Amino acid sequence: MNVKTLENKLFTAKSSQSILDSALQAGIVFDYSCKTGQCGVCKVKLLQGEIETLQVQIALTEQDKVSNKILTCCCAPKTDILIDAKDLSALHGIEVKTLPARINAIKRHTTEIIEVTLRLPPTANLKFLEGQYLDVIHNNIRRSYSIASTANQKEITLLIKRFENGKMSDYWFNQAKENDLLRIEGPKGTFFLRDESMPLIFLATGTGIAPIISILKSLDANEGFKQEHDISVYWGNRYPEEFIWQPEFKKLNVTFVKVCSKPNQDWLEDVGYVQDVALAKQPNIVGSAVYACGSTSYDHFWCMT
Ligand code: FES
Repeated sequence: MNVKTLENKLFTAKSSQSILDSALQAGIVFDYSCKTGQCGVCKVKLLQGEIETLQVQIALTEQDKVSNKILTCCCAPKTDILIDAKDLSALHGIEVKTLPARINAIKRHTTEIIEVTLRLPPTANLKFLEGQYLDVIHNNIRRSYSIASTANQKEITLLIKRFENGKMSDYWFNQAKENDLLRIEGPKGTFFLRDESMPLIFLATGTGIAPIISILKSLDANEGFKQEHDISVYWGNRYPEEFIWQPEFKKLNVTFVKVCSKPNQDWLEDVGYVQDVALAKQPNIVGSAVYACGSTSYDHFWCMT
């Protein structure tokens, strides 16, 4: 079956494979994050033809369905189709690799959050755009984590939150030690800085701050970047001790707002939820780009207002 986009990109797709995977195989990159139908990042409009759903399109609303929206990670073409997806050329040449990785260090920030640095083989040559994520595979368990380091750093840094009764959490928090051998697969996802020439608003909850740390550090290190617009970061956590990162930049001027939903009596900063506090402090976001990232890699998105 042929899949065509409004930009006249054309590729063939199997009926047993998602449109997204067929596109990726053909070297075309559409927006995506979770690949499981939950985040809605891969939503596009079906303009012609018919599709078959391979997995439930959880993120589609009734309104989306009426408007012929589909999730490219969940559907395969039944006939030749035309969709309004955009090819993200910034990701061309970024290859998904499966590589061995050893744990270099584990830093315990709290009983619930650790920071893990991984070292890759010297020949790995892993390229990624700051904001992307990767999968870590251990004992046949696979979990996705956003990268908190930048592409020019030698090691990969991940922020990991404990999930109750999680198998991978059990490994990370009870068994993992330096030099353990893991496998990684990545980079993945299309969460990256699209355009820095406008005001930027970053919203994060929990360890969802990781890709934002990566993006901001790389912007700070970019000699060609001259900040002309406001950059704001709103970071939400449940408890005060979960604010394990404080921005320190050489040249970036960032408004950093910490929002705690279950503060103790010593908490002097904002209270509530990030989205509410951000809207209260910046009611006029027209003309800004908003990047939001939750504590799992399943809910990254960006939008231009
Ligand atoms: S819903 Fe398709 S990538 Fe998340």
